[in-house]
Amino acid sequence: MKMLTLRRPDDWHLHLRDGDVLQAVIGDTSRHFARAIIMPNLVPPVVTTSDARAYRERILAALPAGDRFEPLMTLYLTENTDPDDVEEGKRSGLISAVKLYPAGATTNSHGGVRDFNKAMPVLERMAKIGLPLCVHGEVTTPEVDIFDREAVFIETVLDPLRQRLPELKVTMEHVTTADGIDYIKSSKGNLAGSITTHHLIINRNAILVGGIRPHYYCLPVAKRENHRLALRAAATSGDARFFLGTDSAPHVDPLKECGCGCAGIYTSVNTMSCLAHVFEDDNALDRLEAFTSLNGPAWYDLKPNEEKITLEKRDEPVTFPAKRDSGAGPITVFDPMFPLHWQVID
Ligand code: NCD
Ligand code: ZN
Repeated sequence: MKMLTLRRPDDWHLHLRDGDVLQAVIGDTSRHFARAIIMPNLVPPVVTTSDARAYRERILAALPAGDRFEPLMTLYLTENTDPDDVEEGKRSGLISAVKLYPAGATTNSHGGVRDFNKAMPVLERMAKIGLPLCVHGEVTTPEVDIFDREAVFIETVLDPLRQRLPELKVTMEHVTTADGIDYIKSSKGNLAGSITTHHLIINRNAILVGGIRPHYYCLPVAKRENHRLALRAAATSGDARFFLGTDSAPHVDPLKECGCGCAGIYTSVNTMSCLAHVFEDDNALDRLEAFTSLNGPAWYDLKPNEEKITLEKRDEPVTFPAKRDSGAGPITVFDPMFPLHWQVID
């Protein structure tokens, strides 16, 4: 039997929602992860330090008894965000990053940024105080094909922004293309990327072949196989610029299994098992800890966790619940479409 012990992982991009769904999903993260960057795209969004403080309290109140988990709070960048409030949030230790959603890019992003000039005062302040900007890297221009939105974002938004403000630290979140990987690798600093569990496993066929499969639909949408392979090579390389951000994004089934289903894949339940499988497949189990537990803290200027977790590889496949029940309805758990043998035991 194979065993693997790692420093306790962190999740550098996570949607916990609120209310009944928060209550149902938080334990799936706090069971294995010590910290997570919490996405602010609630309805209404978390836009001020005071909103973030209240949301953090709700997250802590929902934690299963005995679990220790540190939510790292973010603010949702709008054209009206107050630079002083952001600075106060960072100074008080509450705010770890600010999140940029181009308006209309994804779930609950209509209040995001349309005119980057309006966000410049905040971005300049963030550069000055060393607060990272987390970006959802897709343009929303209707003329741009959905599969090209990340590459076009890099060229027309991200690169110009980084040239204008080279001191700004930017996390390109949920990178889904070889273009994104190449751009990060070619940068001279102040840029890193998070990669999700599911983008290491599925390509766009998962969504479309043999019928339309809403539980594999997320944003940025999964791309062609060559892009998935580029993500895998980056994640398993040990390169410190790449780390795990699951983008676990729960939606109740009726909101996904319908005529216009929401984007988001719920992976918190089996993420560590999936990742151990992926890294073992690529002969990189010795680099799993860098991806899940070391590179992220280094980027966010935090210490890696002292605590450890242990995974064990079983001969028999490990089963996970197919759904998580919530007071708002069932939430389907990501199915990697291959048997999982690794399990966190401790
Ligand atoms: C996220 C959500 O549901 O909030 N959905 C997703 O597909 N990842 C939003 C996001 O991160 O794009
Ligand atoms: Zn997300």
